[in-house]
Amino acid sequence: MTGPLFSFSGITGGYGATTVVRGVGGAVAAGEACCVLGRNGVGKTTLMRLLTGHLPPRSGTATFGGQPLDELAPDERHRLGLVYCPQDRPVFDNLSVRENLTLMASMDADRHAPLLAAFPILEARMAQSAGTLSGGERKILSFARGIAETGRLLLLDEPSEGVQQENVERMAGFVREAKEAGRALLVVEQNLSFALEIADRVIVMDRGEVVLAGAAADIDEETLAAHMHV
Ligand SMILES: Nc1ncnc2c1ncn2[C@@H]1O[C@H](COP(=O)(O)OP(=O)(O)OP(=O)(O)O)[C@@H](O)[C@H]1O
Ligand SMILES: [Mg+2]
Repeated sequence: MTGPLFSFSGITGGYGATTVVRGVGGAVAAGEACCVLGRNGVGKTTLMRLLTGHLPPRSGTATFGGQPLDELAPDERHRLGLVYCPQDRPVFDNLSVRENLTLMASMDADRHAPLLAAFPILEARMAQSAGTLSGGERKILSFARGIAETGRLLLLDEPSEGVQQENVERMAGFVREAKEAGRALLVVEQNLSFALEIADRVIVMDRGEVVLAGAAADIDEETLAAHMHV
């Protein structure tokens, strides 16, 4: 395949009269992960909402597999293969763990068994409502749901938030496998070591704008850390 699987440019938008994201662009190829980094409140989640169709951009364009997304609703983007694991309310609290896992992808031994083996809490709580899980466990459930879906593009908003280190490492393993399977990932992260473990490319945002972008291998960790700490 030539060119990125997913690309976006000039994405601008916000809430009411407030512009939160300004002219943000990026691209992710099949088999790659791009991490979006930046301090709290710089607009990372708003960018994800603008890219998934949950918030209409004021300007800018996004293309997935050669198809412009701009006129498409979130469910239409999902049908094309855009899988979104949001930061806030990552799962349906009133549905069981099993229902959350099978809402978008029927229970499939090949896809689900490795996830249940890696994250035994999901198996143990299968019949319980997701609302009984801790915040970190809900992020694991959301991540597992996204990985188990078949869509080629994954947008993950802080998957490691509140998750124990050993499970963050397991997440990194699944991200690597997703890349090897030819999926593309755009991942918002605050955990720099996890981000650097999975990222081929990075985008650093500050006050709604991209202030640094490039191949992860070309940007040193201190520079990134300086951008992420106040
Ligand atoms: N629903 C909303 N309505 C109005 N303003 C919002 C809304 N959501 C976020 N904002 C504002 O937009 C700005 C960016 O928020 P956003 O959640 O995109 O940042 P973020 O980079 O994801 O932060 P964090 O690292 O804390 O997740 C903040 O000033 C926030 O207060
Ligand atoms: Mg956020």
